[in-house]
Amino acid sequence: MTVNLALGIDIGGTGMKAGIVDLGIGELVTERERIPTPQPATPAAMTGVLERLVDHFEWTGPIGTAFPAIVKRGVVHSAANVDHSWLGVDAAALFSESVGQPVRMLNDADAAGLAEIGYGAGVDRDGVVLVLTVGTGIGSALFVDGVLVPNTELGHLQLDGHTDVEDWAAASARDRESLGWRDWAPRLDRYLEHVCFLFSPDLVILGGGASKRFEKFADLLRPHTEIVAATLRNRAGIVGAAMAAVG
Ligand code: BGC
Repeated sequence: MTVNLALGIDIGGTGMKAGIVDLGIGELVTERERIPTPQPATPAAMTGVLERLVDHFEWTGPIGTAFPAIVKRGVVHSAANVDHSWLGVDAAALFSESVGQPVRMLNDADAAGLAEIGYGAGVDRDGVVLVLTVGTGIGSALFVDGVLVPNTELGHLQLDGHTDVEDWAAASARDRESLGWRDWAPRLDRYLEHVCFLFSPDLVILGGGASKRFEKFADLLRPHTEIVAATLRNRAGIVGAAMAAVG
């Protein structure tokens, strides 16, 4: 039996996480390795960490990277949670050159979404499926009959006077304002109401850090549509990045 492996690297605002993924089953075949994201999160500093992750696994083969920004053909087009010097950088080319092998790139929420659709809560679900990662920011991945509409950036909508809704409704706002899960949940609920009004999804999959505590606030979410927790948890970004490496 041929085993189809790829290295997935999930780059976040606070941690850069990697693992080797068996694409036949969408599971990590190694321990997950995490290195804190350097601050400031500049191209040079983050490229250094990426090299360390590739060296850690002594990996030669397909590499995919999930990045917390708009990424089009490898180029970074926004920088909400990374240093602004990333804007306009061809990150795929930079990373490929530094590790001496091709590196593919995509948005981090799009990666998590691909993983959930491929192996998690979205398997065999057609229609409009919206995957939301609720953590430091809010990431979004929109699927229509299993096909990704990339870079939707629904964490940056304006809502109820908040110019950037993720600053108010992401899990990081809960920490920043020392809110309990049940004090924060109505914010997420209001946000879900709004995105469900805009897109009429058949299914919403909630991922990111907040999904690990889904049971603490699920009963406070009104049934705007079917809403379920992501199943791949903190592996989704790595698995989706690995999928993109060969996709
Ligand atoms: C970024 C998105 C990202 C999300 C989750 C947002 O601030 O703009 O690109 O997907 O955070 O990391």
